[in-house]
Amino acid sequence: MSNNEFIVIKALEDGVHVIGLTRGTDTKFHHSEKLDTGEVMIAQFTDHTSAVKIRGYAEIQTAHGTVTSDSKSK
Ligand code: TRP
Repeated sequence: MSNNEFIVIKALEDGVHVIGLTRGTDTKFHHSEKLDTGEVMIAQFTDHTSAVKIRGYAEIQTAHGTVTSDSKSK
């Protein structure tokens, strides 16, 4: 898959989880990355990754716009 798009995830609290889900028939967690406040992860959708789940309070920038996820306690 050729994909130059990437998403930017900036943690706005400690312990934000960026979870990669597999592409294909089975949709499973394959990677979990923990970010603390201010940490940034830049990620792409790949042959292995079809979806990304964000747990916790973070700003997510995509080509489609910016969205803020909330933490459970909010
Ligand atoms: N090995 C994974 C892949 O190539 C790494 C990855 C890419 C990833 N995008 C991600 C992991 C998004 C978590 C979230 O697909």
